Amino acid sequence: MRDSRETIPPRAFVAGYPIKHSRSPLIHGFWLDQFGLNGSYEKLAVNPDEFPDFIQRIKLQESGYVGGNITIPHKEAACRLADRVDPLAEELGAANTLWLADGALHATNTDGIGFASNLDAARPGWDKAEVAIVLGAGGASRAILQSLRDRGIREIRVVNRTAERAQELVDRFGGPLSAHPIQALAELMKYADLFVNTTSLGMDGSEAPDLPFETMRAGALVTDIVYVPLKTPFLAKAEEAGLATVDGLGMLLHQAVPGFEKWFGRRPNVTDALRQLILADI
Ligand code: ATR
Repeated sequence: MRDSRETIPPRAFVAGYPIKHSRSPLIHGFWLDQFGLNGSYEKLAVNPDEFPDFIQRIKLQESGYVGGNITIPHKEAACRLADRVDPLAEELGAANTLWLADGALHATNTDGIGFASNLDAARPGWDKAEVAIVLGAGGASRAILQSLRDRGIREIRVVNRTAERAQELVDRFGGPLSAHPIQALAELMKYADLFVNTTSLGMDGSEAPDLPFETMRAGALVTDIVYVPLKTPFLAKAEEAGLATVDGLGMLLHQAVPGFEKWFGRRPNVTDALRQLILADI
């Protein structure tokens, strides 16, 4: 008799609530087509009350699921409910990628890898920066702080409107991090060679503070996790000041790579054709 797993095409998903705006199906659909694989990637709206049952269901072999992405508001619950949580997700207390292996549900968080891989691709050597400023202390900031620390950045200054939130992250990640009020930002910029915006400031054409990018160190790099618009006010001002910039779309694309590889067994590339496909949708 044939093993039923051979005949069921692998299914993956993104689960969130709401989920309408997720671009993950476009990304994984592009790679499935590119490799000519007989698999699928679905968008699933899962109410928070139903999330624990959902996790039990995907573990059943007959579901055909091999894993999936988890987005807001389920990242913390996914971390709690998975059978095996890797150290990255464990430290963040949040998972965005699940996969089934050896009868267990595994969890990781690929946001930090997505951030660093995007910079690796666009600006090799970016991690020689000595002093980084990370603006914002929300969920997106955490994975980026973890990644900057793990890449050996010597001084990481977390700047946030609500100073206590920045301090919480310093307590969590320790070592090279320090917390600063937003009023100190302009002064801190003089001594930094990497600036990362992790807030929603400048998203969808909203205002962003006018910052003195021209005072940053020569050769400094500015990046933003916002990608709508692609050229955010921060990136536009940094460019005017003659600084190198990297937009945030690449982080979204690169964070998807490890999941696809785990579910479908092929390592995809982040290409310009994929960027164009997503850009046409935003
Ligand atoms: P996410 O999980 O997407 O990072 P979040 O947890 O809501 O979202 O965090 C948003 C971040 O943007 C926070 O650092 C927030 O600052 P506070 O901690 O002070 O709220 C920051 N932010 C949002 N709007 C802002 C604004 N108008 N000015 C300054 N910072 C802002």
